[in-house]
Amino acid sequence: MSSSQGNGVQTLRWCNGQLEMIDQRVLPAEFRYVRYDSAEAVAHGIRDMVVRGAPAIGCAAAYGIALEALRQQDAPASDFTVLMERAFAVLAASRPTAVNLFWALRRMRMRWQSIAAQPAASQAQALLDEAHEIFAEDIRVNRAMGEHGAALLADGARVLTHCNAGALATAGHGTALGVIRSAVEAGKRISVVAGETRPFLQGARLTAWEMVQEGIPVTLITDNMSGFLMSRGEIDAVIVGTDRVAANGDVANKIGTYMVAVLAHRHRIPFYVACPTSTIDMSIAEGAAIPIEERASEEVTGFRDYRWAADGVSVRNPAFDVTPAELVTALITERGVVHQPNRERLARL
Ligand code: MRU
Repeated sequence: MSSSQGNGVQTLRWCNGQLEMIDQRVLPAEFRYVRYDSAEAVAHGIRDMVVRGAPAIGCAAAYGIALEALRQQDAPASDFTVLMERAFAVLAASRPTAVNLFWALRRMRMRWQSIAAQPAASQAQALLDEAHEIFAEDIRVNRAMGEHGAALLADGARVLTHCNAGALATAGHGTALGVIRSAVEAGKRISVVAGETRPFLQGARLTAWEMVQEGIPVTLITDNMSGFLMSRGEIDAVIVGTDRVAANGDVANKIGTYMVAVLAHRHRIPFYVACPTSTIDMSIAEGAAIPIEERASEEVTGFRDYRWAADGVSVRNPAFDVTPAELVTALITERGVVHQPNRERLARL
């Protein structure tokens, strides 16, 4: 795993035969790594949001498969196959919306199938190499995306983002925040407005932390303030990431993104979505068919150990929403910018 991840943040790292991941549940109050040595433990880390963000989830799952292969390499051949199948299944069940998870598992499976005749130890090494490659590729892709996207931002732009689509959500550099980083590297003066992102507070805790670390000016707002700022002419562009893009260009992203997109449309502010092509799912015709994760009610009724909601209240907690393609000004990918994405343009990409 490269030590140069496009910035100082090493969201995941391979260390002495184990995977280490920054514990994103406790940032920024605490900065600590959690160590993983099995697929099941990694799946737990994904479900529990130790690691989150579509590309980072994909990288973690790839390492989860490699870890399991290393752990089981001395098992009899028939057991090894069964245990590996179990690893694929447990990781696939960790979170439903980010398609990068399934993309990474498919890639790991293809690599595994191509070397199935080799001894288990060689298979394990090949799977670890593949996980390292998925990781390194993610940083390269984010950098390419950053360059394409930076050209869309004017010097002095005030850019609203939602959730965290930064280095913490990827192997490094980030998707939406990667575009902002690349624009800053190109000499543009960009300031960020971070929506706090109820209920898990990825904006307040993670995006704000990443930007402060790097000295990129950032202003935190609660999610219900974006309309006011737009109406006062204080936002020049919106950039978000995504967990899955349907074949028609509909985009699933963190809950609250749709609300921001509608407001941006109302105020004629460009609404950009930055994503690697691995996030585009051509097998899903439209956004309504994207599986949307529902998370625990405790995320809404309070935060960590503190509860503020009335006992007995019923709760909804969909973790993502879908923004129709018609509200997306452009998709920023590593292969270039797709303006007004639709089925034909995505198929061509
Ligand atoms: O629930 P999360 O924190 O995993 O949701 C993350 C997002 O919604 C991101 O915007 C998306 O995964 C893109 S990350 C580059």
